[in-house]
This record gives sequence, C-alpha cells and structure tokens, in this order.
Amino acid sequence: QEDKFKKVIAHAKEYGYIFGSSEIYDGLSAVYDYGQNGAELKKNIRDYWWKSMVYMHQNIVGLDAAILMHPTTWKASGHVDAFNDPLIDNKDSKKRYRADVLIEDYAEKQYQKAQKEIVKAKKRFGEAFNEEEFIATNSRVVKYLDTQQSVLKRLASYLEDEDLDSVKVLIEELGIADPDTGSKNWTEVRQFNLMFGTKLGASADTAMDLYLRPETAQGIFVNFLNVQKTGRMKIPFGIAQTGKAFRNEIVARQFIFRMREFEQMEMQFFVRPGEEMKWYEYWKETRLNWHLSLGLGAENYRFHDHDKLAHYANAAADIEFNFPFGFKELEGIHSRTDFDLKAHEEHSGKKLQFFDPELKENYVPYVVETSVGLDRMFLSIFSTALQNEELADGSSRVVLKLPAVVAPVKAAILPLVKKDGLPEVAQKIVEELKWKFNVIYDEKDAIGRRYRRQDANGTPFCITVDHDTLNDESVTIRDRDTMEQKRVPIAALKSMISEKVDA
Ligand code: GAP
Repeated sequence: QEDKFKKVIAHAKEYGYIFGSSEIYDGLSAVYDYGQNGAELKKNIRDYWWKSMVYMHQNIVGLDAAILMHPTTWKASGHVDAFNDPLIDNKDSKKRYRADVLIEDYAEKQYQKAQKEIVKAKKRFGEAFNEEEFIATNSRVVKYLDTQQSVLKRLASYLEDEDLDSVKVLIEELGIADPDTGSKNWTEVRQFNLMFGTKLGASADTAMDLYLRPETAQGIFVNFLNVQKTGRMKIPFGIAQTGKAFRNEIVARQFIFRMREFEQMEMQFFVRPGEEMKWYEYWKETRLNWHLSLGLGAENYRFHDHDKLAHYANAAADIEFNFPFGFKELEGIHSRTDFDLKAHEEHSGKKLQFFDPELKENYVPYVVETSVGLDRMFLSIFSTALQNEELADGSSRVVLKLPAVVAPVKAAILPLVKKDGLPEVAQKIVEELKWKFNVIYDEKDAIGRRYRRQDANGTPFCITVDHDTLNDESVTIRDRDTMEQKRVPIAALKSMISEKVDA
C-alpha cells in the first residue's frame, strides 16, 4: 500500500496534476500547487458538487464569502478558545508530534494486526471460513480489536475533558516511541491553536489582528439573514459554499490529505428546531449517494458515527474513504443545533432569527452541515483511478480511470500522421468540440504511444483522424477503459462524448 501511495504521488507530479509549493526553493511543507491537469480535475469536482447542491435543490443557494472575517467571528465560533491540537515533543529528537495522532496510529496498527490474522485464517480455512465465527472465537483478533477500541475511547474522553496529563500517561502506558528515532522520552502535552494569524492595516498600533478562516462555514452563518431575506428563502433551506481554509496543522503528512492551505465544500442546511435528526439522516444518505455516483466502488466508503460529540453538535458522522493508507475521514456530516447562530447573536447583538409563517413564530434555526475537503475528494478519486493493468497480450499499461465527468481532458484529437491534410482535419474537430469540452490536439509520437499517454492522463476518449476520414467524414473513437475502437461520423462526436462525460 505504501508503494501504491508513492506511485500516486509520482504520477500526480509526472502528469501535471500536483506539484510541491514553491519547489525551486525546496518547497513548503504541506502546501501544494495544482498543475494544468490538477486545476482542471479540481474544478470539475467542485462543479460536480456545486451542481448536486445548488442546481439539484431548489431550496439551496450558493455563496462566496471572504476569507478574511471580523475577528469576533472566531471568538463566537469557539475557534479562539477551542480549536487546538494536543502537541507533544520528544526530548531526544526534538521533534514535535500531535499526541492524538500518535495514539490513533497505535490503534490503527492494532486494527491492521487483526486484519492480518483474518487474512491468514482465510488462507488456512479457505471456503469454509466464516469471519464472524472466527472473530468471536479467536483470542488474538479479539485482543487487537479490543485494544484498538479501548485506546480510541480513552483518547476521546481525555480530549473531551481536556485532560492532557492522561493523554501523556496513555502514550507512556502504550509504550509509543518517536516514529523516527524510537525514543520514548516525551515532554508534557500542550494545546496549540491551529489558526493562522495575520494583520489588517499598515501601522503597528492601529493594525487589527485577524485570522485566515479555518473553515468556510462561518461565512455562511454570518450571512444567514442576508441570504434568507434577499432570496426570500423559507425553512428548510441551505447555503452552499466552496473556498480556501487554512489550518496550521502540525502533523501534515500524507500528501494532500492534510494540508495547511486547502479547500472545503460546505453546505449549511437551516431547519426547524426538533426536525434536525430527520434532516441529518437525509443528508447522510444523500451525501453517500453523491460519492457512490462517482463509481469508485461502494466497498471504499463507510460511515463512522461519532460517540463523543463536539460541544456544538448533537449528532455527527464521517464518511470515510479507503485511501492508500487506509480508511480515513473524507466528509463530515454534523447536526450543529443552534450553537453557531446563537453564538453570533450574542457576540454581535444582532438577531439571527427566522419568522416561520406556518408556525407564526420567530426562532433561531437548527443547522445540519455537510463538509467535504475538495483536496481529499481529489485524492480519493485520483488514487483509486490510478491502475496498472495487465493486458491480454501479456503487456501492461498505466491507466488513470478517472470518472469521465471529472476528467480534466475529455478527448484527445490525434491525426494518424503529420501530413496529407490530416492535422488540418483534426484541428477542425478541435475547433468544433472546444465550445463544449476541454479537448486537446496531439500529433507527437506514434499513435500507440499517444494512446498510452492519454490513458495515463485519464482522458476518456481518443479520436483518431486517418486517411479514410478524408473520404467518409468518419473518425475512430477509442474508449480509455475498454480500449475498444469504433468508427463514427464526425457529426456524432459531440453527442457520444456528452453521453459519457455530462453530469
Ligand atoms: N465546518 C466543519 C469543518 O470544518 P472538519 O471536520 O474540521 O469540519 C471538514 O473539516 C472537512 O474538511 C474534512 O472532512 C476534510 O475533508 C477537510 N479537511 C479538514 N482539514 C483538512 C486539512 N488540513 N487538509 C485537507 N482537508 C482538510
């Protein structure tokens, strides 16, 4: 799996998807730039989300709030006081780690060990193997899974109580060592705020301390009444937004999974108090179906319902995805009650209420939130799409089986040879298709190599112009996934491509 992950990172760079930020200066850790294909894939994922939220729901509208917000926003939201990570330093290596991540990694290893035992047993018992029976009776598996669960439970309860001493005791008790050096010489655990600070204004004494937003959601909350009134929205209704968020993450590894500057796609759904659980269930299901519609395989998703809840939530679940490094959070669905709007009422002195014409009363709505990281979506799609395929003739090919709807380039138009008027015909096809699709023209190298290049780039279609085209106004269209080639009239290309790539 580690190997697979390395291949994903290398492929993303080689094909112009993702570069390290400011690479010529040796980069900036956990910050990334999206290249010519990455920018396009990202935009397509964003559009796919936006359409499913804003166009497909008559009662959801969009918003584009600023990254910089009045600093009191973050007092009200709780981020100034509570948006912290527990950090621990190793006295020998002088390296700093997130204490909770060290413990979570330990728990994950227990889970992996249990899985290994199960795989071994499957090999031994073959067809007659019954996983449930095996788990119930095999003490090693039960021990690993119990340890995993109890460690996570203890961690969650210590963090909830802000009992940092017990977090340290747990690290010592489990014998967790510095992953790099093996040293177990730890400092105390301390809280560290994740928000990036900046200043507004030029002069030192009048400048105002600001934060770069750590989530897009607060821009939606503070605009709740603006949108409700100007859009004449009736509850239940939603506001959707995509945009950058910033967190000074300490453990920022795993490529674009955890970044310091990333993009969120969030939707706040405002509902009548008391109806939030119905909507919470609705959004859990609706969001999972959205993920499944990309066709990456249902087995790659699972829900993780939270037992311990954040102070603002009365229900919360993650949709987890099977990344190359295991199942991890992809999206969060939270029932946030009226916590945020009430807090903004208190801190601003402005009412943030809705007059419900049916109930004939004013209230602060409850909120169900769906929040997904665009970069994590990118990683889930890209890493699953990248495949090394053995072919019938014994050779193999690298193919990026991106869902066609999000693929950066929809079709490559290829003249078979660089002469006899074929390039001109191919260019003419580009001119026609470019109004609707992102298409490219490529005449370099033999046709087989050009096909392979487009396979590895994730392009769903290759369209080849050959000498027959000059007579019959037809071309060959090659499907990336099946590698099948069909002869079709040029006039039919638009609808054929549309059928596969339109949302
Ligand atoms: N408004 C709720 C909120 O921000 P969150 O669970 O902190 O909740 C939501 O973040 C989503 O944003 C996560 O599920 C993840 O996909 C993405 N995300 C959070 N931190 C991230 C980071 N450092 N890098 C990339 N994506 C991140």
